[in-house]
Amino acid sequence: MAKKVMIMDTILRDAHQSHAATRMRTEQMIPVLPQLDEVGYYSLEGWGGATFDSCMRFLHEDPWERLRTLRKYLKKTPIQMLLRGQNLLGYRNYADDIVEKVVEKSFENGIGVIRVFDALNDPRNIEASMKAIKKYGGQLHATDPVRGICEAAISYTTGPVYDLDYFVKLAKTYESMGADNICIKDMANLLLPFQAYELVTALKKELRPETKLHLHTHNTTGTGDMVNLMAIRAGVDIVDTALSPLGNGTSQPATEPLVATLAGTEYDTGIDLGKLIPIANHFKKVAAELEKEGSLNPKVRQVDVNTLIYQVPGGMLSNLMNQLKKAGKEEKLPEVLAEVPNVRKDCGYPPLVTPSSQIVGTQAVMNVVMGERYKMVTKETRDLFAGKYGQLPMPVDPEVAAKVLKGEKPITYRFADDLAPEYDKLKAEVVEKGYYTQEEDVLSYASFPEVAETFFKWRKAQREGVDTDLAKTGVYPV
Ligand code: CO
Repeated sequence: MAKKVMIMDTILRDAHQSHAATRMRTEQMIPVLPQLDEVGYYSLEGWGGATFDSCMRFLHEDPWERLRTLRKYLKKTPIQMLLRGQNLLGYRNYADDIVEKVVEKSFENGIGVIRVFDALNDPRNIEASMKAIKKYGGQLHATDPVRGICEAAISYTTGPVYDLDYFVKLAKTYESMGADNICIKDMANLLLPFQAYELVTALKKELRPETKLHLHTHNTTGTGDMVNLMAIRAGVDIVDTALSPLGNGTSQPATEPLVATLAGTEYDTGIDLGKLIPIANHFKKVAAELEKEGSLNPKVRQVDVNTLIYQVPGGMLSNLMNQLKKAGKEEKLPEVLAEVPNVRKDCGYPPLVTPSSQIVGTQAVMNVVMGERYKMVTKETRDLFAGKYGQLPMPVDPEVAAKVLKGEKPITYRFADDLAPEYDKLKAEVVEKGYYTQEEDVLSYASFPEVAETFFKWRKAQREGVDTDLAKTGVYPV
């Protein structure tokens, strides 16, 4: 039976987040948006992840305005975004009213598909987001069948608890919570081609026939194309690729080779390679601009086999080396690499992704450098043991927990249950500071208070031709 494979292109989000520190500007996207819209992608990833932060912090752009612009040009193709569960677009836990508002406004401003995930795979951490996605996405979906989609993502990792049963059980949990799509999110490129085949086979067998399975990997270690191909042979519905100028290496495998590989087979994507060439030519120029301004280091395109050798994500290894260098103990790297799995075991085998990869890595460095395990403990390690990041996949080591927690009682409920509603309070702050122009401003401010304030100030100066600091003293337009 013919099975068309669908593609999400990440060129507008993960591709430049992975290669160029998320520095692609909206004006660098606009010229080819109408052409991208004609390709026939399942979706175009264009928002969320680090784009929100980067827009305001580095690019003087209102992230909401970017989204509205994308939507204006992308008339057919749904825009997909990445949401970090209860951490939304920022890094802390938000109260549920902010979660609901971010989801509502994302759909309202143009998002079609929301991919939501939790670093620890704790369903409670994506429950509030999913509820809101079902509510507002459901309304959108009723009028527009390709939009309003809820995609729940599993953080893929390896380790003793992460067998097929674990992933199938989690996927079924997310499905029962209302997910339309299930995504395998292999952000560290730890998934290997034959394991991908097994995993996709197991998931396709156990999930409902109408649930779409979506695979997200990177090509950091050079296995990405093979992972995608094996997943496709096992029946995956959608895979993520990035147009070649910002594809491969730390980004997604490139789009064009996969489209060519599948053309004329039962998995044919239906995408015309000829349509991709002019778009790729445009992004070649954009990549050159990003390289010239120093946002893109050509090294990101190389194959890095460290993950294959050490079983730790590429970014984590360079972190460990930097920390050891600072402590003047670079020779301790082999000991630290041996300590990482021990620490991970002690704290219940969290997936090694942000933020747990940093927490486990830093603690492993401390344990080795101090010469005594858990003599010094970071606040983050304590919070991880205290249940503040969510439930860990396995029980923690009781002796280590006693040493780390020093009498603090771990919580067993969802951390966000402790958080009082915060939207009204934050809105009052934005209004009082004189920056309020839209409800979305409150959400920008909630996500990154200082960054948003600096951005609002700049925006106000642009609009009014006045620097507000100077305006207080009554002088000088800028
Ligand atoms: Co990614």
